[in-house]
This record gives sequence, structure tokens and C-alpha cells, in this order.
Amino acid sequence: MALNTIELNRQRQPLDHLEDVWLFGYGSLIYKVDFPFLERRPASIEGWVRRFWQGSHDHRGTPEAPGRVATLIEQPGAICAGMAYRVSPDTFGHLDHREKNGYLRFFTALHFANGEQAEGLVYVAGPDNAAFLGPAPLADMARQIACSHGPSGANADYLLQLCDGLRNLQADDDHVFALSAMVRALV
Ligand code: SIN
Repeated sequence: MALNTIELNRQRQPLDHLEDVWLFGYGSLIYKVDFPFLERRPASIEGWVRRFWQGSHDHRGTPEAPGRVATLIEQPGAICAGMAYRVSPDTFGHLDHREKNGYLRFFTALHFANGEQAEGLVYVAGPDNAAFLGPAPLADMARQIACSHGPSGANADYLLQLCDGLRNLQADDDHVFALSAMVRALV
């Protein structure tokens, strides 16, 4: 799959006919909210786990030295907590550009704390995208994150801000918390 997913997302899933759209954020979309939204609510999705398995050539690393950022990996029964935003469809012009390094958007069921549900979009960078790095020993991932930098800043800041965002949401994530403890010891 092409490294730049902007056109692919636009073609696969036109949104102009919709009045508003829920977006589920599980990575930087939890803490870096550089887009307008109509409403924001903590939410979760089922069947996915957050993993630092996606390479970042454009934000937290470079093509020569990619960083590691979050994507979702399918795991039956798993729950992934994050933040849902209700946005206008034209906001996806900006979001598709921001998530262009391998992320495709899919509709999935969002669950809110009060038991309500809604269909929403989530950006997933799958194993078939050119920037996918996949699993590695936690210590190796921590070292890579500790020393990577890109146009959006230090890779360590991405991880540590996500960790703070998850704690604010009172969300548990063993993978993120273990990685951030290792990275804190390195930087
Ligand atoms: C997300 O936050 O939902 C997608 C991945 C990212 O931008 O970090």
C-alpha cells in the first residue's frame, strides 16, 4: 500500500453527505487536538489493542530514522480506551493529511461510559502499509523511541503525552505504561 494514504481515504470513504461524524482517537489524537470539534467524550472500542508498531517518517522520525507511534492491532475480546470527537466532515481534510503515513480510516462501534453507542471512524495503520514496523522487544522499541525526532518533535514526547492522556482518562494500558517507564529512564 502507498505510503501516503490521503487519496486512498478520500476515494474509499467520501463523507460529504454526512452532517457530522464521530472520530475515535487512541494515540496522539487523544492529546494533540489541533482540529475543531462539536463535542468530545471518552469512549472505547472493542477487539483492538494499542501497539507502538507503526513507523513515523513524517511526525516523530524521518525516512532515514523512523520513530515509533501507535496503531491498533486486532485482538478478539480486547477493549481500547480513547477519546471520541464529533466533528464536521470537512475536518477530515486536515485529519487525513495528519494521518497520511499509512493510516486508513474505518467505521466501527464506539462505546460511551453511559452505555450509549455510536458509529465512528478510527484511523488504523495495518501490517500491509509501507511504514509498518511490527513488534520488537520492548527494550528495543524504548531505545528507538528515546532517540527519534521528527518535524512534530521528540518521539518520547508522543509516548509520554499519550501516557498522561490515558491516565487522565483513567484508562489502563500495560503496553504503553511499560514502554513509557523504560523511555523515562532513558531520556
Ligand atoms: C490516533 O491517535 O487515533 C491515531 C494515531 C495517531 O495519530 O497517533
